[in-house]
Amino acid sequence: MDDVNRQKDRIAVIGAGLMGHGIAQVFALAGHPVRVYDAQPAALDSLRDRIAANLDQLGIARGAEKLVSGHADLGEAVSGARFVFEAALEKLEVKQAIFADLVRLAEPDALLASNTSVIPIGRIAEGLDTRHRILGTHWWNPPYLIPLVEVVGAADTAPDAVETMIGLLASVGKTPVHVRKDVAGFVGNRLQHALWREAIAIVADGIADAETVDTVVKSSFGLRLAVLGPIENADLVGADLTLDIHNVVLPHLNRSPDPSPYLKQLVEDGRLGMKSGHGFRVWTPQQAAALRARVLHHLKTTATSHLGGLNGGAGRDDS
Ligand SMILES: NC(=O)c1ccc[n+]([C@@H]2O[C@H](COP(=O)([O-])OP(=O)(O)OC[C@H]3O[C@@H](n4cnc5c(N)ncnc54)[C@H](O)[C@@H]3O)[C@@H](O)[C@H]2O)c1
Repeated sequence: MDDVNRQKDRIAVIGAGLMGHGIAQVFALAGHPVRVYDAQPAALDSLRDRIAANLDQLGIARGAEKLVSGHADLGEAVSGARFVFEAALEKLEVKQAIFADLVRLAEPDALLASNTSVIPIGRIAEGLDTRHRILGTHWWNPPYLIPLVEVVGAADTAPDAVETMIGLLASVGKTPVHVRKDVAGFVGNRLQHALWREAIAIVADGIADAETVDTVVKSSFGLRLAVLGPIENADLVGADLTLDIHNVVLPHLNRSPDPSPYLKQLVEDGRLGMKSGHGFRVWTPQQAAALRARVLHHLKTTATSHLGGLNGGAGRDDS
């Protein structure tokens, strides 16, 4: 199809891994042509097949994958793109090198976004020209099922870059939120890892075993979390009760600035979790597969309304 006739902005994605291919899928399903670059050619070879397999799994007709093309040349991938999403490795030096190239190779008015999980955007953009167009877009896995994207403006990001990005993400059915300070972990991962630190401390201190910790969460407040945020919950029970509880419990919560020695020991012992069959808990391949299927089923059933509007652009070709 001729570029001039396209209604939707071209998107570029850097990194064709777990997140990159899923981000490409979201935009392709909304009718955007997407070019994907990866340093490993093998990741590009399987790109369309992985997207097609996701569509099959979601019960969405194939076609959108044809709007996604793999490019082994970064300049070619970002040519003509109005938005660039970086989803390469979570290593500061890799991201800094990629953004140095993007500033040079991308269109002068293109917005350049990093999908870093926890690295402040200002660190990635440090010393680069045109920092006004560099920002964070923190998607969640899988990007085509989890609605949220945290949009992070760094100190030098132009406010209209944040606004434009929020508009784009909303237009493809995401739930973008504006994170107002460029802090490590943004909002979601700060909250999530505050919980994980305490969960690991409870196991390490022998208060409960790993399975019990997970049962406590899944069978109690975890059930409410999708419809009741922590601040809503505090207001629900009352600020006075929340204060009484905090007065007693906060001094006893883990506040270590370092990862738990228990966690470090697991890694040292090669107990890496499902990928090695043993982490905090023991996992057979069947148990690991069942857990993945359970999570996918849950997300599919809770995110159906989100999926509903995303099939509009399927079927066009971007070869
Ligand atoms: N996996 C998650 O749940 C998740 C969630 C939110 C954010 N993130 C973040 O998204 C980013 C990508 O994570 P992922 O899970 O998709 O990783 P991944 O390992 O699945 O994919 C990374 C891809 O980047 C490619 N790559 C490596 N160096 C590159 C370079 N210099 N240029 C271009 N491509 C390069 C790799 O070949 C690989 O295909 C990370 O910053 C990660 O922290 C991950």
